Amino acid sequence: SIVSPLLRTGYHFQPPMNWINDPNAPVYYKGWYHLFYQYNPKGAVWGNIVWAHSVSRDLIDWIALEPAIYPSIPSDQYGCWSGSATLLPDGTPAITYTGITRPDVNYQVQNIAFPKNASDPLLREWVKPPELNPIAVPEAGVINATQFRDPTTAWFAGGHWRMLVGGVRGTRGLAFVYRSRDFKRWTRAKHPLHSAMTGMWECPDFFPVAGAGVGNGLDTSERGEKYVLKSSLDLTRYDYYTVGRYDERKDRYVPDNPAGDYRRIRYDYGNFYASKTFYDPAKRRRVLLGWANESDSVPDDKAKGWAGIHAIPRKIWLDPSGKQLLQWPIEEVETLRGKPVTVAGKVLKPGEHFEVTGLATAYQADVEVSFEVSSLDKAEPFDPAYDNDAQKLCGVKGADVKGGVGPFGLWVLASGDLQEKTAVFFRVFKDGYGKPKVLMCTDPTKSSLSPDLYKPTFAGFVDTDISSGKISLRSLIDRSVVESFGAGGKTCILSRVYPSIAIGKDAHLYVFNNGEADVKVSQLSAWDMKKPLMNGA
Ligand code: FRU
Repeated sequence: SIVSPLLRTGYHFQPPMNWINDPNAPVYYKGWYHLFYQYNPKGAVWGNIVWAHSVSRDLIDWIALEPAIYPSIPSDQYGCWSGSATLLPDGTPAITYTGITRPDVNYQVQNIAFPKNASDPLLREWVKPPELNPIAVPEAGVINATQFRDPTTAWFAGGHWRMLVGGVRGTRGLAFVYRSRDFKRWTRAKHPLHSAMTGMWECPDFFPVAGAGVGNGLDTSERGEKYVLKSSLDLTRYDYYTVGRYDERKDRYVPDNPAGDYRRIRYDYGNFYASKTFYDPAKRRRVLLGWANESDSVPDDKAKGWAGIHAIPRKIWLDPSGKQLLQWPIEEVETLRGKPVTVAGKVLKPGEHFEVTGLATAYQADVEVSFEVSSLDKAEPFDPAYDNDAQKLCGVKGADVKGGVGPFGLWVLASGDLQEKTAVFFRVFKDGYGKPKVLMCTDPTKSSLSPDLYKPTFAGFVDTDISSGKISLRSLIDRSVVESFGAGGKTCILSRVYPSIAIGKDAHLYVFNNGEADVKVSQLSAWDMKKPLMNGA
């Protein structure tokens, strides 16, 4: 297949070359955002893992520094895996991370590091006190040593610091709790914070949220009305969370929905994994960072010389319903926008589409659109045969399968002849009680003529009231990624695509309606996106 430099993303986070995975230890310190990440300095495949380090004033323009955490002590000599930062009471950060201690098996322990010079706002050098490390080891018979990793940001409660470490017992995924008075010596609590029959929990994340509908975030040590517990499931390679309550005395988390363990919510229904949040005191918000790997073939990754990007940082807060989070690209991304192209009050009849013209870089753009459906009468009956599985449903009813209300939405990274296109769309069903049910999909099955690509359809339901007929969609388009936000951030889908003809100037943007009901584009704005400073690339 063709490996085109035009497919390298422009404004999504990535280093100049090589492999990247999880975001690590995001933290705001002395006016700078710090982002560390899992990085292979030697190639475009996973391995030789160190913590690369970048800094930013706005989470958009990034400056690369030297790797901050790399194998240097016995308890991390075979790899420095994921971890987190915590701001200590004196304002300085501490990093906790997983170290690999054996060359043959990935034997895991937890380590701690402190800034060598806290007056350096760039936090370039880190020390790993030998008298403290490792701070936690997998006790024989209690902890599976090869499935024990990814310490969280710690929080302070009831006279103790607490942090979580992901693990598994049998097939029960869990978050171990470690406690410390001084942040130096840590002891494991008898009971995990929570567990579920899901397989291994990677990269747990646990944080308080303010009240329903409140946009401001809370520091990880503040008391929340509600809490969010997220785990990255090794088995499915997706990130799932629940909303619940935290009993600080017992150090237990209880999801609100009793079936929460089984009805977990996805941050993103596409390619988004090993995410982590941090509290940003500069803007009093909680920000979510996540990793999106390539869905291209490994030989292509090697030929490109790079693999993996991060999603655009998302502000997250509790939805007014209290049942889920809302996610929205941080406002700073809007500084990359050029002049808007707009469309208003345009009706799409069944089977119609139109091109959004006037964009210089439709391959690197931001689109916001509000749709209004004339009537929901034609909505297709919701077929229970799909087990309420959005992805299954969308796999059968893709963008080219005509429907009643929808499919309608965007064709992005589309060639002028529409041979190649990635569809991002909604489709409305009616359940047995006549209640509308909204499906959001990204259908990349026509995204590329290249063979050997992984092109699954991604989909999630949208818990929104569409009785007024109104629904919005935003897509961040960036050469080989389409990151979409349905209904103001209720359902999100990030998808990697590798067009072979719809690249560079040959990429176009369209709005389509493949349903029987008219759909009005009440308002559409699209912007070319500039390229920020991206780690010197
Ligand atoms: C998640 C993960 C973590 C681990 C790291 C290793 O993608 O597997 O559990 O710490 O990546 O790079």
